[in-house]
Amino acid sequence: MNVLSLIRRKRDGETLSGDEIRALVAAYTRDEVPDYQMAAFLMAGFIRGFVDAEAFALYEAMLHSGEVLDLRDIPGIKVDKHSTGGVGDKLSLILAPVAAACGVPVPMISGRGLGHSGGTLDKLESIPGFNVNLDLDRYRRVLAEHRMVLIGQTETIAPADKRLYALRDVTATVECIPYIAASIMSKKMAEGIDALVLDVKVGNGAFMRTEADARRLAERLVAIGTAAGKPTIAYLTDMDTPLGHAIGNWIEVEESLAVLAGGGPADVRELSLLLAGTMIYLGGQAESVEAGIALGARAIEDGSALQAFIGLAAAQDADITCLLHPERYPQAPHQLVVAADRDGWITGMDTFAIGMAAVELGAGRLRKEDRIDPVAGIRLQAKTGDHVKAGQPLAVLLGSDAERTRAQVGAVAAAYRFGDRAPEPKPLVLGRIDPILGGNPLE
Ligand code: URA
Repeated sequence: MNVLSLIRRKRDGETLSGDEIRALVAAYTRDEVPDYQMAAFLMAGFIRGFVDAEAFALYEAMLHSGEVLDLRDIPGIKVDKHSTGGVGDKLSLILAPVAAACGVPVPMISGRGLGHSGGTLDKLESIPGFNVNLDLDRYRRVLAEHRMVLIGQTETIAPADKRLYALRDVTATVECIPYIAASIMSKKMAEGIDALVLDVKVGNGAFMRTEADARRLAERLVAIGTAAGKPTIAYLTDMDTPLGHAIGNWIEVEESLAVLAGGGPADVRELSLLLAGTMIYLGGQAESVEAGIALGARAIEDGSALQAFIGLAAAQDADITCLLHPERYPQAPHQLVVAADRDGWITGMDTFAIGMAAVELGAGRLRKEDRIDPVAGIRLQAKTGDHVKAGQPLAVLLGSDAERTRAQVGAVAAAYRFGDRAPEPKPLVLGRIDPILGGNPLE
């Protein structure tokens, strides 16, 4: 293989063969192609694009760069969910135990925060002792016993993605649909799942800012899942406003516990139940998504979903005291209120800016080696569609460092947009890409 020629041909807009793409990714994973050549190839592909066959070859090469788990010995139709990332998105912590309590095994390999968007692993690690680094034997055992397991990407699952992702992150080649699709689906198809639910976020707090881009990404993700023989359903959901009221790590666990206990914010509850209901349907435990939603709601009402989450946390080494008594968790030492400077309707929010403010407070990483502050974050007191009076709290900033906390007051205040009239209500679910049920009943 002549890497220079592959870069040149991609630069000039040629279509490469599947074999050429597979050989390139395999050689890069074996350390036989230097980062500078791979970075040049990534940028050429970012600018020139890929035809469907090339994009599929990229996904296949990344999937087979490591181990593809076989979970057939564990009974049940295994279903996972993946979100493309947003602000306040704690849905995995809710829907995994809901689906598991309804009889669907959920093997979930999640990620850490990325840029302005939070990550399930960081949230889980705010629970003292929670171990997200299980080896694959223990991954199987916990899944078999608890019908659910929540871990991070291992060295052996899609290692090409791990390396390519780090390279894309520092070469401005992240927001490219073939790359994102290959990255997500190589990890998900390596997990040993039978079916997948995708939550593709759209809006100013998502990687896909427009509905058209989000739909193209969702269609590609669903096409890959379907071609792999795994029933896949994707939803396009709103990320122009943060989900729920809590943005951070521990406070998002706390909000998830509230939803599992039957309360919590309506948007978080509604979306968790829709996605869990779809998992329950794909997992063969309900005749329809609607019946799955009803089963999921019952698992919340009767406490079985909350018990499933607490049982899993104990199985993954967590000290569950704080799950049983969230009020005993340490409070952030610095708490500052951001107040409205006028009367009016909140007509919109810069969700990316709010996510970045949470990162700056310590809830995410500005550099790879940064440590997450589990108590840092933002509690929203008002969101898009609310009417506020001057002086009324919009948000409370939580931090461990006084200066760092104060520094975010202006950014969060500036992220709110006001008007004199109530904004048009926007649906939470914008569409569904669904080759199984066909069409889109939500449109
Ligand atoms: N999430 C992923 O796993 N990969 C991407 O490229 C983007 C979001």
